[in-house]
Amino acid sequence: MTTIIDGKALAAKMQGALAEKTAQLKAEHGVTPGLVVILVGEDPASQVYVRNKERSAQAAGFKSEVVRVAETITEAELLDLIAGFNQDPSWHGILVQLPLPDHINEEKVLLAIDPAKDVDGFHPTNMGKLWSGHPVMIPSTPAGIMQMFTEYDIELKGKKAVVIGRSNIVGKPMAQMLLDAHATVTIAHSRTQNLAALAKTADILVVAIGRANFVTKDFVKDGAVVIDVGMNRDENGKLCGDVAYAEVAEIASAITPVPGGVGPMTITMLMEQTYNAAVRTVK
Ligand code: GUN
Repeated sequence: MTTIIDGKALAAKMQGALAEKTAQLKAEHGVTPGLVVILVGEDPASQVYVRNKERSAQAAGFKSEVVRVAETITEAELLDLIAGFNQDPSWHGILVQLPLPDHINEEKVLLAIDPAKDVDGFHPTNMGKLWSGHPVMIPSTPAGIMQMFTEYDIELKGKKAVVIGRSNIVGKPMAQMLLDAHATVTIAHSRTQNLAALAKTADILVVAIGRANFVTKDFVKDGAVVIDVGMNRDENGKLCGDVAYAEVAEIASAITPVPGGVGPMTITMLMEQTYNAAVRTVK
């Protein structure tokens, strides 16, 4: 029997608990977690993500604002905007939605966010803390995946994990979190040779490569746990992951669906990070 890892249900459960914790924080300390999201331009996917983040923040009882600015904003103007939010203590989390337009240097922008408010965990200070084994602010997608492993009692210690994808947002922090949980980790990517054979050695396979239905059953060992971070459209325009779900579900011991797997967890973990940042200001 394959376990379907239900990220939507877990995220809903966590959101409920978060709303309660938030109400308690307000009552005990008079602090309301505040999350501001900056969206530059009108990228359709980013607009959907940002709207979902706003809804989730409001449902948790947070102070929430989306600052929508034109694609023509200059880098200096964007840096000024961030500086203002850094100084305002009512904001505990600042998130600049990526990608940014080409004329804006992403690295400079991420560096400008106060690391204590960097709820994405993308600031080099926070990435360094994660890699040195002292995580504070951590990227939400791999954090959500770790939460799923815990919820479903998936053992990581001593297991062989293969992460396909090496982005700063998912692949690299995922590898570090698995390493911290005592898995033996390999990071693979689009230029890895014999990728299917390597993936087939994994007890835990995390796929974040951004190609629709790329991982077929030839990549998967019988009984492996398969986590699909992909969010793509197939040739019929239907939402699908990086894993060919139907055929891989036949051999995996556990698998995340798309939609309803990793996606909802990412947003909930972002809210958890914002809540934790608010707590750190009073405790
Ligand atoms: N664009 C795609 N994923 C993310 C994310 O997790 N954070 C931000 N800021 N932008 C993104």
